[in-house]
Amino acid sequence: MDPIEKSDLPEIIPTHIAIIMDGNGRWALARGLPRLAGHRAGTENLRRVIEACIEFGIQYLTIYAFSTENWGRPEEEVQGLMKIFEDVIDHELQELHDQGVQLRHIGRLDRLDPTFRQKVLDALEYTRQNTRLVLNVAFNYGGRDEIVNAIQCILRDGVAPDEVTAELVNQYLFTAGVPDPDLIIRTSGELRGSNFLIWQGAYSEWLFPPVYWPDFDKEQLRLALEEYSHRERRYGRISPVRDNAAA
Ligand code: IPE
Ligand code: IPE
Ligand code: MG
Repeated sequence: MDPIEKSDLPEIIPTHIAIIMDGNGRWALARGLPRLAGHRAGTENLRRVIEACIEFGIQYLTIYAFSTENWGRPEEEVQGLMKIFEDVIDHELQELHDQGVQLRHIGRLDRLDPTFRQKVLDALEYTRQNTRLVLNVAFNYGGRDEIVNAIQCILRDGVAPDEVTAELVNQYLFTAGVPDPDLIIRTSGELRGSNFLIWQGAYSEWLFPPVYWPDFDKEQLRLALEEYSHRERRYGRISPVRDNAAA
């Protein structure tokens, strides 16, 4: 395939893309491979998608790597996923840093093995000054858990009821300081949110490309940007283009 040039991209590019990287298991199943082979292929693909995001000028990328509900999977798969994530930190951190990626984590680290948790914290610290792409990794993340945590912290801080506003809640979410996602992509054809960014995604555009995550390539990302550029975000108002035409 010909390389994708900047001129092939639409003018309107989302600031923040969030991705539910779904379909690793089915990708593996279709090839007669174990599910973990699908997760490894998905991780390989993530590297390519991060590179494409940097090239396309995306500023924030949030990826759903492990949900609060994914603990319910067989122990072997959960442990295999933990190992894959640890390997990513061990082998990819320097490359990500060199590319100017700032790693952030959303979710809870408390249930993780202490050595792994420390590696995550060190990786966040190591890349803290980078500005080219902010990569939010949703790991042991659940949207409801995030909101429960925010309410607990607000109450603990003794905030008066009248002072609770949407802006204040934003500051108590794991994503504090990060703009809401403009576009949420879920691969694999499943049409649901699965507890991802349920507050922040209130006005996000959604896209459901019918490919498994390991097959979601740079061209798929370009197509997603193309589709996004044709969406009209109205936020409850009417369309200045369409609805004023008859006046
Ligand atoms: C998404 O792929 C990755 C994680 C949840 C970690 P799945 O593992 O959900 O793949 P499918 O949906 O079973 O195909
Ligand atoms: C969502 O996918 C979580 C991640 C991609 C990490 P799941 O495969 O876990 O979601 P459900 O179970 O199909 O809703
Ligand atoms: Mg799935």
